[in-house]
Amino acid sequence: MSRELPFIKIPAKKGEKVRKLLQEVQLLAKNYKIQAEGVTLLIPLQPDTKVEKIRALLEEDTIEMGTRLFESAIEGPRTLAEALDGVLSPREIGFLPRAYDLIGDIAVLEIPEELEVHSIHIGNAFRSVHSNFSTVLAKRGAITGATRVREYRLLAGVDKTRTVHTEYGCRIAVDLATAYFSPRLLEEHNRVSDQVDMGEVVVDMFTGVGPFALHIARKQNARVIAIDINPLAIELLHESMAMNKLVGTIEPVVADAHKYAPVNFDHDVDRVIMNHPSGAFEFIADACQSLREGGIMHYYDFGAGESPEDEIVSNVSRLVRAAGKSTPEILHVRRVRDSAPYEYQMVVDLVIS
Ligand SMILES: C[S@@+](CC[C@H](N)C(=O)[O-])C[C@H]1O[C@@H](n2cnc3c(N)ncnc32)[C@H](O)[C@@H]1O
Repeated sequence: MSRELPFIKIPAKKGEKVRKLLQEVQLLAKNYKIQAEGVTLLIPLQPDTKVEKIRALLEEDTIEMGTRLFESAIEGPRTLAEALDGVLSPREIGFLPRAYDLIGDIAVLEIPEELEVHSIHIGNAFRSVHSNFSTVLAKRGAITGATRVREYRLLAGVDKTRTVHTEYGCRIAVDLATAYFSPRLLEEHNRVSDQVDMGEVVVDMFTGVGPFALHIARKQNARVIAIDINPLAIELLHESMAMNKLVGTIEPVVADAHKYAPVNFDHDVDRVIMNHPSGAFEFIADACQSLREGGIMHYYDFGAGESPEDEIVSNVSRLVRAAGKSTPEILHVRRVRDSAPYEYQMVVDLVIS
């Protein structure tokens, strides 16, 4: 934990003497770390320490003082397991979640059934280890419905689901209760946005709160049409557009991509992003009709088994053929993230002809 405190700035060579003097008169904030700044030291003082007191103590007329944040010198527990040592049994410690989603200043934990009765303890312990997170939430049930939102319950800290998350300097307004967002897609947002050339027309068919659109428009003078059926997701995208310096343009659209794409695009789009892994397969014909000859599709699906790479390529190729187009080139295929035990979110980038 850090705290804003007054300090005195002194030459490092006088450090030990001054520290002892301050400690004797109980003006030293001894639970906070002394900071080095070049050949000087900043010694943290008790709140409300008066400059006159320091002057008298050091018998000097010119004293340099200020206020700043000082880090606590008291070492707290470093891991969740350490913080819960003695609260949970060694067997229960074994069930503690090892990975969390960190979204802005909100941490999201998945509490296993075996630890359900200890969930509030776990939330408080998490905050004692990671004091920079204001809220600790637990996932409640699975992601469901067209909008891909799940429920959460508060474990510790401030009761909220809204925050601002930053990915590679891109600021994204998020509300976990109303719109989909996963911090595990940051590499994918960055990878796809790196491929966009100047002047491109990009359709982000399932934009959610708009991370692909925002990354692209921050980097490139491109036009991104960002569609989502969830009006609350598009509201958050509007907020993010105001928080980032964009060189390209984003046109947020609340619509069903099935209805919007065929009416608004006719083989005149350079790139379509289809990040709706549980449902994108139903929109292949719409994407094919939108894309120009040689346009690029980024298609997402879930995959499992021995070779999910072969499976996604074969599935998307079949669906594109059924839509009357072909896939002359597969540019890239990869596992984006684990989505469940032995299941992955997959992506394939392909040229559509
Ligand atoms: C996996 S999330 C999107 C994630 C987003 N691309 C990202 O990277 O964070 C899928 C999104 O598809 C949207 N969606 C579902 N059905 C849709 C439809 N028919 N038309 C447009 N958007 C739809 C949902 O509201 C949800 O925000």
